[in-house]
Amino acid sequence: MRKKTILLLTMGSLGAYYVYTPLPNNIEEPWRLMGMIAVSNTITNLFLFAEFLGINHFMNIAMFFIFLIEVPPTSDENVTVTEATFNGIPVRVYVPRRKSETLRRGLFYIHGGGWCLGSAAMLSYDFLSRNTANRLDAVVISTNYRLAPKYHFPIQFEDVYRALSWFLRRDILEKYGVDPERVGVSGDSAGGNLAAAVTQQLLEDPNVKVKLKTQSLIYPALQNLDLDLPSYRENSHFPILPKSLAARYWSEYFTTDRSLEKALLLNQHVPVDSSHLFKFVNWSSLLPEEFKKGHFYNTPTYGSSELAQKYPGFLDVRAAPLLADDTQMRGLPRTHVMTCQYDVLRDDGVMYVTRLRNNGVQVTHTHIEDGFHRAISFLNLKICYRMINQYIDWLRENL
Ligand SMILES: *[C@@H]1O[C@H](CO)[C@@H](O)[C@H](O)[C@H]1NC(C)=O
Ligand SMILES: *[C@@H]1O[C@H](CO)[C@@H](O)[C@H](O)[C@H]1NC(C)=O
Repeated sequence: MRKKTILLLTMGSLGAYYVYTPLPNNIEEPWRLMGMIAVSNTITNLFLFAEFLGINHFMNIAMFFIFLIEVPPTSDENVTVTEATFNGIPVRVYVPRRKSETLRRGLFYIHGGGWCLGSAAMLSYDFLSRNTANRLDAVVISTNYRLAPKYHFPIQFEDVYRALSWFLRRDILEKYGVDPERVGVSGDSAGGNLAAAVTQQLLEDPNVKVKLKTQSLIYPALQNLDLDLPSYRENSHFPILPKSLAARYWSEYFTTDRSLEKALLLNQHVPVDSSHLFKFVNWSSLLPEEFKKGHFYNTPTYGSSELAQKYPGFLDVRAAPLLADDTQMRGLPRTHVMTCQYDVLRDDGVMYVTRLRNNGVQVTHTHIEDGFHRAISFLNLKICYRMINQYIDWLRENL
């Protein structure tokens, strides 16, 4: 009997030790989040182990299991959900059921997942798009795009661009009853990266006549030149998106060759002849005091030019929208940037806010003090609904 008790106590404390992740004390529902982190870490470690054994690429294994959190396109009492192909790209379409006397808002959504994972069919994205369509009386297009490691930059960008420019055709907008004056683009994480990138490119495209009214960037990744920002330093071991995983996603976007990832982690991937680009991601001048307190700016370190020659994508503005120069930024549509305090990508978003404002773009910055990466996808946490409300409220007023 006593042995059993001791065994149970030991197992219990081992379990608690395994689940226990020290979290900042302003995090809401910490135990629930810790439980989810423990599950997600276990799965990640299993996949990494399988990769180590040579079974398959980590991202392929992860993507193989995505179907477990996907849902079919099912209409409900408020929204009709269908699948369509926009210029060869599969998308999910959410159209409100209620009758509308006027044309509707249109919203083009791009899911996250580090350019490697995810789909519009994931439960969390389906929920978000369905909710947006219903509450804003908007037609929501949630796009898919081809993913790494099978496809690398610029395929992800081009797929999204192709689907969006198709949606922006006047005949297509008319078919869906969308007002060409009220179309916005949104995305989270890698989807926020793609949203910012396609929004910039559309400004320069004479073939697309309809212009975007808004862009909503939810904890977007916007640059990979400097992975030593204060947000990377402070959150490098924060679960969900530690710096190691962020570097892996970034490098997988361009290549399966792990040498880029290694250089990214050392912050030694940019060749010296690209040194002029650092001014676009200079956190010392682009971050407000509150985000840089306690940190010292180190002058950039450089690497060989070999990586940049082999994988020029990582210095391409279509992959790193912060690299746009000032003239490219002027004329961008009204913007909502959402950033989270406990997120390596926080300072990407904050720097983009500064750069846009410096160039006369109207920007709303919503900073979530107790937020963390991917929070808008955690349907069992309250913070998810808080963020969804902030996201939709801004669109209601601005789109
Ligand atoms: C339909 O919309 C109403 C009003 O917005 C809401 O109360 C209801 O929960 C929605 N139904 C579904 C299935 O989402
Ligand atoms: C970054 O900004 C700081 C302060 O504004 C400046 O002293 C430094 O030279 C800049 N560095 C680069 C690489 O732009």
